[in-house]
Amino acid sequence: MRSLLLDLLKVTESAAIAALPWIGSGDKMAADGAGTNAMREALNRLRINGTVVIGEGEIDEAPMLYIGEKVGTGKGLEVDIAVDPIEGTNPTVNGQSNASTVIAVAPKGTLLHAPDMYMEKMAVGPKAKGKIDIEAPLLDNIHAVAKANGKDIRELTILIQDRPRHQSYIDLIRRSGAKVHLFNDGDVTYTAATCIESLNIDMFLGIGGAPEGVLGAVAVRSLGGDMQAKLLPFDEEELNRCMDMGILNPTKPLRHEQLIGSDECIFAATGITDNLYLNGIKKESNQYVTHSILIYGKEQRVRYVESLHPVFEFAR
Ligand code: FBP
Repeated sequence: MRSLLLDLLKVTESAAIAALPWIGSGDKMAADGAGTNAMREALNRLRINGTVVIGEGEIDEAPMLYIGEKVGTGKGLEVDIAVDPIEGTNPTVNGQSNASTVIAVAPKGTLLHAPDMYMEKMAVGPKAKGKIDIEAPLLDNIHAVAKANGKDIRELTILIQDRPRHQSYIDLIRRSGAKVHLFNDGDVTYTAATCIESLNIDMFLGIGGAPEGVLGAVAVRSLGGDMQAKLLPFDEEELNRCMDMGILNPTKPLRHEQLIGSDECIFAATGITDNLYLNGIKKESNQYVTHSILIYGKEQRVRYVESLHPVFEFAR
């Protein structure tokens, strides 16, 4: 698995380069199409026998990188692949911060096959591993995390996506004395941020996309943190989609091990626009400059990678 690190970096870098012309364009379809196409082409050059388990949608709704699509040369390691070619389509096409391109890879059968629906998520860094319980009251979790991180509650920073559905969490956290850091989009970035010590973030919390939940879970596992989640099927149809994907008790909390069941996993992300820890893609005269994060679960170490790509290599 380790030998795939640089190859996977190239996959997210290619998708970010393809997304560049669409930053600020207002065209979500074109941005998504460009990122997806580039990611798929790069994946198909890899010597892997890969299956997309988190992708752009079901086979009938996504022409590329659909769930179940086989990618790679077909030779080499059998792996599950989760992709989000553009995590944050709105910030990309509106020229706002927090868009990135993301991939996670793990041995076949170890990534949760999550349908595209909402999921409740809670993530913490390594010091608070084993101390959270998504079923317990939020206040109990806050106290447990403060204790594990050796902080007073008033020193805690909790990340939450700025959505009306989170208002009760926000009010409760502020009443407890802890601080809320709101963000607009891109919850994979913010889930992973709980495990980057220099950012001094204590918890990520809230309801967002289930696919993004699985991607975030790989980043968190790869950095020694902890995550729990709960799928939130909205209606009968979403319940059935869970069942079809092998999740027989969809409303049961998912432990970290069920989201990602192996340390042999890799997480890579490249900035499209600036975020908490990555700069966005830039074009400087005859080269593209990309900034990425690359993490391998067996190493539990963050690698920040700046790459320079000659423009002519990407000319069509
Ligand atoms: P996209 O990549 O689909 O643009 O999602 C961005 C995102 O912010 C995710 O990170 C998050 O999980 C989801 O949107 C939340 O969805 P909603 O916009 O419905 O609140």
